[in-house]
Amino acid sequence: MKNLILLTICLLITVNISAQIDVKVKKVPAKTLEKTIELRRDFHQFPELSNREFETGKKVANRLRELGIEVQTGIAKTGVKGILRGGKPGPVVALRADMDALPVTERVDIPFASKVRTTYLGKDVGVMHACGHDTHTASLLGAAEVLAGMRDEIAGTIVFIFQPAEEGAPPGETGGAQDMVKEGILKNPDVEAAFGLHVSSSLEVGKLEYRLGGFMAASDRLEIKVKGKQSHGSRPWTGVDPIVASAQIIMGLQTIVSRQSELTKEAVVISIGKIEAGVRNNIIPEEALMIGTIRTLDTAMQRIVHEKIRTTATKIAESMGATAEVTIDIGYPVTYNDIELTRAMVHTLYGTVGKENVRVVPARTGAEDFSFYAQKVPATFVFYGGRPSTTPKSEAPSHHTPDFYVDEGCLEVAIRTYCNLALNYLGMKR
Ligand code: NI
Repeated sequence: MKNLILLTICLLITVNISAQIDVKVKKVPAKTLEKTIELRRDFHQFPELSNREFETGKKVANRLRELGIEVQTGIAKTGVKGILRGGKPGPVVALRADMDALPVTERVDIPFASKVRTTYLGKDVGVMHACGHDTHTASLLGAAEVLAGMRDEIAGTIVFIFQPAEEGAPPGETGGAQDMVKEGILKNPDVEAAFGLHVSSSLEVGKLEYRLGGFMAASDRLEIKVKGKQSHGSRPWTGVDPIVASAQIIMGLQTIVSRQSELTKEAVVISIGKIEAGVRNNIIPEEALMIGTIRTLDTAMQRIVHEKIRTTATKIAESMGATAEVTIDIGYPVTYNDIELTRAMVHTLYGTVGKENVRVVPARTGAEDFSFYAQKVPATFVFYGGRPSTTPKSEAPSHHTPDFYVDEGCLEVAIRTYCNLALNYLGMKR
């Protein structure tokens, strides 16, 4: 009997714990959802490339003003900041969406498909929201509407970040999150934590994915210039062949990944994407140029890999009588999900979509400039599903392709996720 009582108590506690997974926004009002869909279709139909989000930025600012939210514009060119001060004092949390589209020609048959064309790097291209940033911008505006409607109950301040150029500024320009941070987006009011969401065309609508720690990779550009001595192709011993040296270097670089990196800790990728050398079959040229990308998920490993690349390339070249000049341009940092913050927010994700719909996933070797906010304040980045349940995962079109498609059902989930992350964070800190 005593055991039975104990068991009952245990069961009651278990039930209670799951009931504790509580979120404030359980449903998005029909009116808000309707408006969000309307905005999303408009953003989708009229996409703009990185650093050219002039109209999108205006639409975002106007909508925030309509909602009675304080607005600042022109941050990092077209970025918009909204500040919603709650009725009660409390901490400051930021929610981020990106607004830019890609030079891709849409092939999807929907009434609001993009027909926009523009000139990009001297070429006539179609413009398309082929990464779903239209859903990010629209759902953050939807969240702003819901949160503005409950302003009096909010203990703290919510900063809405609408940023340009996540896909990278055009050559010769800077932009995106790095410039937003430089221009003080996280200051005045001082942001204490940031949340970012991204849609995924392969994840089913209604599901969320995250990872603790390094979630998306740091992406650095690699350039190696190998200098040898030109000679006749028939008498290589009279010169120094930079092409053979380059071949050795490429293989050497792969041993940094396979033999010298602690792969059970985090993944490392080094890829050479282009080699350029020579003009004809019987001339050994003087120089070879290689460019590539380096992906790492841990800042310490990133430093070590860079060092090893320099050593490997220069020493291999030297062993063959050539020289190698290594240039590494630091790109987006690791998108790091703060362990403590992310752990604390997991229950909010459970409460928003149900525990069974939240999955911890492996790191991704793609990069994301949300990382610049995560360098400054504890942050959490989460993916939400955009794949219709009728489309098998194997047939889901990839991001950045003309067939990219996500279901509008994702907007409702994204709005709730944004709202609940902000509200629960503020509640937690009170
Ligand atoms: Ni994206």
